[in-house]
Amino acid sequence: MVVLISGTGSNMAALVDAAQDPGYGVEIVAVGSDRRSARGLELAERAGVPTFVVPFRDYSDRAEWDAAMADRISEYDPDLVVSAGFMRILGPAVLGRHTAVNIHPALLPSFPGAHAVRDALAHGVRITGTTIHFLDEGVDSGPIIDQVAVPVEDGDDESSLHERIKGVERRMLVDTVGRLAREGWTVDGRHVRFGRTEHSVTDATDTKEQR
Ligand code: GRF
Repeated sequence: MVVLISGTGSNMAALVDAAQDPGYGVEIVAVGSDRRSARGLELAERAGVPTFVVPFRDYSDRAEWDAAMADRISEYDPDLVVSAGFMRILGPAVLGRHTAVNIHPALLPSFPGAHAVRDALAHGVRITGTTIHFLDEGVDSGPIIDQVAVPVEDGDDESSLHERIKGVERRMLVDTVGRLAREGWTVDGRHVRFGRTEHSVTDATDTKEQR
């Protein structure tokens, strides 16, 4: 798998840790970013994982950047791309070639976008959480694979709530990505099931076309 990050990379680090165990069934072949300053890159390098950066501002438009990102990812020939705290929208060049999942700090379809935790707090919800979903070309709109709820506590601010969500999402991400790798998956419209009935990690392109 190739993991994409833009910042701290704590979710990526949890995957890198889990992948140390051969029984987990995942090899992280590279960690990529849109930002040279992403703190997680150093962490990945220290763990011996190759890294690459495709800075958004080096390209004249989104399509060019997306094409460059698709080429860099393809060099590693991953079965799956995991967007874990990656703050850019992947476009048709990447998504046409690769199956990708994303982790989002809210219970989709509530609170899509870059400020999910802030938006959930502002709305006054008592329960929020995290979602892992396949990526399509919309914003946080692809088929949902799993979700875990996190209660909002009195006195929570954006940072305290996000930290609690991140604790939960690291476990969900490790669990879900491992199952996708070991068991394969089937996507039927908006419904995702684990299991290799029709598709598996080794025919990720077919899976993508089914979607
Ligand atoms: C996570 O909450 C993820 O859901 C969101 O960005 C955050 C990334 O955190 N998309 P980290 O970089 O993995 O620590």
